[in-house]
Amino acid sequence: MTNSFLLISVTVLATLTWQTDGAKILAVFSMPSYSHFQLGFRIAKELADRGHQVTAISPYPQKTPIKNYKDVSLEELVPFVEELKKNLFAANAFSPRDILNFAFTMGNMITEKTFSQKSVQDLLKSDETFDVMIMEHFVNDALVGIAHRFKIPVVLIGCTRASSINNYIFANPAPSSYVPNILGTFTKHMNFWERLENFYYNVLNDIMRETVFLSKQREIFKKYTHTDLELDDVLYNVSMMLTTSHVSINDALPHVPSMVEIGGFHVNPPKKLPQDLQTFLDQSSEGVILFSMGSNLKSKDLKLQARDALLRSFAKIKQKVLWKFEEELPNAPGNVKVMKWVPQQDVLAHPNVKAFISHGGLLSTIETVYFGVPIIGIPVFADQKTNVANAAQNGYAVSVPLAELSEEKLSWALDEIINNPKYRENVKQRSEIMHDRPLKPIDAAIYWIEHVIRHQGAPHFRNAGLDLMWYQRHLLDVFAFLGFVMVVGCVVFFVVLKKITSLCFTKQPTVTKLKKNK
Ligand SMILES: *[C@@H]1O[C@H](CO)[C@@H](O)[C@H](O)[C@H]1NC(C)=O
Repeated sequence: MTNSFLLISVTVLATLTWQTDGAKILAVFSMPSYSHFQLGFRIAKELADRGHQVTAISPYPQKTPIKNYKDVSLEELVPFVEELKKNLFAANAFSPRDILNFAFTMGNMITEKTFSQKSVQDLLKSDETFDVMIMEHFVNDALVGIAHRFKIPVVLIGCTRASSINNYIFANPAPSSYVPNILGTFTKHMNFWERLENFYYNVLNDIMRETVFLSKQREIFKKYTHTDLELDDVLYNVSMMLTTSHVSINDALPHVPSMVEIGGFHVNPPKKLPQDLQTFLDQSSEGVILFSMGSNLKSKDLKLQARDALLRSFAKIKQKVLWKFEEELPNAPGNVKVMKWVPQQDVLAHPNVKAFISHGGLLSTIETVYFGVPIIGIPVFADQKTNVANAAQNGYAVSVPLAELSEEKLSWALDEIINNPKYRENVKQRSEIMHDRPLKPIDAAIYWIEHVIRHQGAPHFRNAGLDLMWYQRHLLDVFAFLGFVMVVGCVVFFVVLKKITSLCFTKQPTVTKLKKNK
């Protein structure tokens, strides 16, 4: 009697404290690119550390097992994308249209390959159960079909800010008048012609998404998800998206409640540096410039001319340069240290690091703001141009477009970043904003995922904009109606006016005519 009473009280208490202990979480990270994986993995690992059971479908299975974390391998996708990445510097010349074509076509291939992997098919056919699916969202929409198979809600992890890449899933408003397209180079203040061009990019984006991308994703969904539902029924029912953005790095943008900014979550507390690197940084009393083009772009693919220009300008400064470069650099000046791999976050955390020469990838930009280091941005493709433009606008970066990379330009940029204190002051201020939030971003990520589990998909976050057609959402039908009323009104007005004037001017003669006739 007392025992069962105790049991009931404990159960009630446990329910009341709203714990989401030991949930079963399915993670889907389909993009075979380490920077994309890194985002999803940070959250999956945190969930596992906090006692949830994570099953992760990913191209990067763990070499040493992690507690509570199980892999479903997509390893076979890695060589396929490595091939595509061979000539990424060429993408510098891509127009937004080329980038979209590239990304959507690649996304369609990766989505189909993910579904067709034996490991994934085995999982889909198994009788496993899960409570929620988290998915790194990047041109892989049909994969929400996996969640549909297990009848579980979906939380997306967005690899960018709220943008044309993800807004449509949540009907999140992003007026072309002040939200620059993520593939362009505009910042939030656009003149008339820029707004016109921005509008064009957004419309192009919408049209290409429908024609090149979603049409194919709908087919893939149908082929691998044996259901009467359509992709749209499941996609536009996704619970939430956690975006890799924050006002400290991005503009202040509109967000519907189902889109939450968690930018900065991927940054780990600094770890101990390898001894040689620690000594190198400690002893560089004049300061160190870190140089890395990220994990996708390889420094060795830089044109020889650009590489020489970089080395010549480095030879002129008294600071040391730590260059992440994939091969030996025999003609490098004495102050340049080359390393094949650099623990970027831990190096940025070192007080002697004075500047970061970067491609302006989103993760690098967040890390540099996190640790308060100003940037020389050499953007190449995708969102890098907008990231660098944004950082320059916020006063903590100078931009050196790849096409303009020369000894003079780089020497100017180095001088500016090293000797003008405003960049460092601005980035420190941004850094303070990034750290001043009610919840640490990684805690916020876990909080919202658990919230979705606790509230069975959290349908209260779904906004009614998703139930409208696009022209209704933009009030085009209302404007069309008002336009029609105005046209009809004008026509009626002129017809009546004509009647009245003709009555006024023809009245007299009619009367006389009548009299005469009598
Ligand atoms: C949409 O999500 C809710 C939970 O948020 C779920 O109950 C419902 O079954 C989902 N509908 C579809 C069509 O997936």
